Amino acid sequence: MKNFAPIFLLILIAGCTHTEKQSSVSEQQTVSNELPQSPHHVKLTWETSPSTSQAVSWRTSDEIKSGTVEYVKATASPFFEVDVRQISAETDTLTSDDRTWAYHQANITGLEPGTTYSYRVGSGDFWSEWSEFTTAIGTDEPFKFIYFGDVQRFIYSKGSRILRQAILNVPDAKFMVFGGDLVHRGAQNIENYGEFFPGGGWIFQNIPTIATPGNHEHDNAKSGIDLSDLWFQNFNFPKNSPEGHEEETYFVDYNNIRVISLNMCRYRYEDDRKEIYDWTKESLEEFEGDWVFITFHYAMDALARNRDAGIRFPEFKALFEQYNVPLILTGHEHLYARGRMDAPFPVYVVSVAGPYQNAIRFADWIERAGTNMQLFQEIEVSPDTLHYYSKTVLGDIYDEFKIVKDGAGKLTFIEGKNLPEESLEPTQDFEDRYDQDLVESYEKDRAEYLNRKRK
Ligand SMILES: [Fe+2]
Repeated sequence: MKNFAPIFLLILIAGCTHTEKQSSVSEQQTVSNELPQSPHHVKLTWETSPSTSQAVSWRTSDEIKSGTVEYVKATASPFFEVDVRQISAETDTLTSDDRTWAYHQANITGLEPGTTYSYRVGSGDFWSEWSEFTTAIGTDEPFKFIYFGDVQRFIYSKGSRILRQAILNVPDAKFMVFGGDLVHRGAQNIENYGEFFPGGGWIFQNIPTIATPGNHEHDNAKSGIDLSDLWFQNFNFPKNSPEGHEEETYFVDYNNIRVISLNMCRYRYEDDRKEIYDWTKESLEEFEGDWVFITFHYAMDALARNRDAGIRFPEFKALFEQYNVPLILTGHEHLYARGRMDAPFPVYVVSVAGPYQNAIRFADWIERAGTNMQLFQEIEVSPDTLHYYSKTVLGDIYDEFKIVKDGAGKLTFIEGKNLPEESLEPTQDFEDRYDQDLVESYEKDRAEYLNRKRK
């Protein structure tokens, strides 16, 4: 506290000067969000229906013992603090690499569909700014969402720009989907969540996040067990899961679509595998809306050039084909690939949002590939069309296709026209990072890939 005393005093002085001029706006004290007691890492997720609920979570120093969400229907007037409702958050403390923080989570329920609310979080003298969220309309309407592959490394310096540029490109996105490895060390704040949330800043406060765990969100990135405590403290995801898989394998139904998150890091364990499989089958079987999107971290086929090729989850691949799942969104490979395997659907997408890049193995199912790019995906959904763009961090279209559904439910894939030349340079330090045979065969493999596509 001692360290912050001069800042605090300055803010109080500044606050006093302001109060004289605008006394009727708010009697409540505001405090700089630089103070650890102030709410930060404020973010929106869904625990229950997006049309009637909104989950909010945030962090403070552990001096703060409780948290409250205040919310009210939004108006253009700044004098909206009438009939403000309050709900209490659940507060937990967790000590990780930097210090002990208090983590606060609340799920606002009983909201009206298609309605914008203003909200803020905090307690006592420490409050966030007011921000807005809008509940889903709950029925068919065209809308967009954004997908991000791994952000993971160098989050502050280069991961942040993909989050910001994506939102500048798609400001009307209703939510963001993250395909895992949001961070590199899921049990740590320093260089990890301590960079990830500030990297997106207010974006997380205004646009809900759906995320599936990557291997790096686990305490041991190779184990697939022990999803880090920070995952559960940071996010408030649905519990419509197989028992014991809450908030990692789950679905969110937004209007006419279902977004399914599968924690396939647990696939290596036979019981987990079966539980996830049965649950996925049931979730596909029962869904009556228009489109299903499935996201999980590991690409169906390993594509990083130094990894063993092969279908990672064969029985899931068969299930997705059986149910004609249109689109599977994955990551882990640190490169871009899009294509279909042994059936007209699904379309498999492997993408990367952050700066860490791998060299590609040109698997024969790839219809479009890319390397050395930070990318995000813009996906527009209407009842009969799914319109997909993969865009670079500069907002340029790198890949595009549509999936159109006819009256009988039959899907047709239509690739975008005039796509730019593929970016297929091997990654930085390629010769140093990869075995000699992988380096020496690269040019031949790339030529064969391009030749195959010309036919
Ligand atoms: Fe990964």
